[in-house]
Amino acid sequence: MSKVIVHADKATAAKAVAATIRDLITAKAKAGQAAVLGLATGSTPLPLYAELVRLHREEGLSFRNVVSFNLDEYEGLSGDHPQSYRYFMEQNLFRFIDIRRENTYVPAGISADAARTCADYEAAIRTAGGIDLQVLGIGRTGHIGFNEPPSALDSRTRRVHLDEVTRRDNSVFFGELSLVPQGALTMGVGTIMDCRQVELLAFGTGKAEIIRKTLQTQPSADCPASWLQSHARCTFHLDPEANALL
Ligand code: PGA
Repeated sequence: MSKVIVHADKATAAKAVAATIRDLITAKAKAGQAAVLGLATGSTPLPLYAELVRLHREEGLSFRNVVSFNLDEYEGLSGDHPQSYRYFMEQNLFRFIDIRRENTYVPAGISADAARTCADYEAAIRTAGGIDLQVLGIGRTGHIGFNEPPSALDSRTRRVHLDEVTRRDNSVFFGELSLVPQGALTMGVGTIMDCRQVELLAFGTGKAEIIRKTLQTQPSADCPASWLQSHARCTFHLDPEANALL
């Protein structure tokens, strides 16, 4: 059953999730193990990444024993494209912390064989021992990662077509709609459900209706985030605006 925490504001929510991540990394390091994090992009996790950078700089949190897997990547964008999610991670987190680049995984947006790239991504997650903690945002379509409706509970990492609502929402980053890729590679709903812990963040009035639908309708492929209702350890971190319709 999912848990909901309404924070005073997004900065407070970000600090709470960052503290959870810090505790996980610290506990794993003590046990001599790597912490395997699932990471997200978009505007929502930015205050979380800022807080992780602060923990690294001011409180000595090390990411040397962290392995990371990002949820998704635009199809057709190379890692040095300014709108690629590999570039986003580099600019907003990786370059400020001591994570080893070879331990950071983002699906390749350009590959000769997308199906193979996706299968290899699933294999890399398995080899790392599975994801300990996945950070999620949510799109207004109900997508998690780029699992647009309809996305089945057992879907795995695969190539997907982006919803027009998502392309319009993300066109602000590209400058114009025609520049937003039509497709992406994304972890599946099943891949996300396999993560041992999920921390979903949603902020602002624009997310209130999809949060209501996600938590208050029967889980279905029409709202992929609704599958999280049955995750054993999933917390929704909301600000008051995103909580307005619950
Ligand atoms: P956003 O995107 O953080 O930019 O609102 C969230 C998402 O699409 O998952």
